[in-house]
Amino acid sequence: MKKICIINGPNLNLLGTREPGIYGNQSFDAYFSTLQQQFSEVELSYCQSNIEGELIDHLHKVGFDYDGIILNAAAYTHTSVGIGDAIKAIETPVIEVHISNTFSREDFRHQSFITPHAKGLILGFGLKSYSLAIQSFLE
Ligand code: DQA
Repeated sequence: MKKICIINGPNLNLLGTREPGIYGNQSFDAYFSTLQQQFSEVELSYCQSNIEGELIDHLHKVGFDYDGIILNAAAYTHTSVGIGDAIKAIETPVIEVHISNTFSREDFRHQSFITPHAKGLILGFGLKSYSLAIQSFLE
């Protein structure tokens, strides 16, 4: 069974209530159950933190024996050299995802410290971005 971990960064614990016009009105917990049903052949795990160092710790923890990591580093995408370096330091490939199309938003969201080290980037498809990322690890 393939092992894939989803790591969500700051403020994504508020999905469902946070700016629903941009991020939708479903909580990530509810969506995660849907993903588990959709990909029952995959061992899926999920964690979320608002703390940059905890996200780095989690990348280190899963980054050597998982088959794939799906990372939405949220606002840290645009600021964190440390998360970018962590992706470089681990072996498991990372797919960067975003719920919104960050390129149609403010200029500061066009910069990513993740993309140069990621296997690929999926953004702008709402929560479906995560499902597309899982599919890409299975093909
Ligand atoms: C986000 C986009 C980021 O710019 C923002 O800071 C987020 C969420 C997204 O999934 O669309 O918190 O990563």
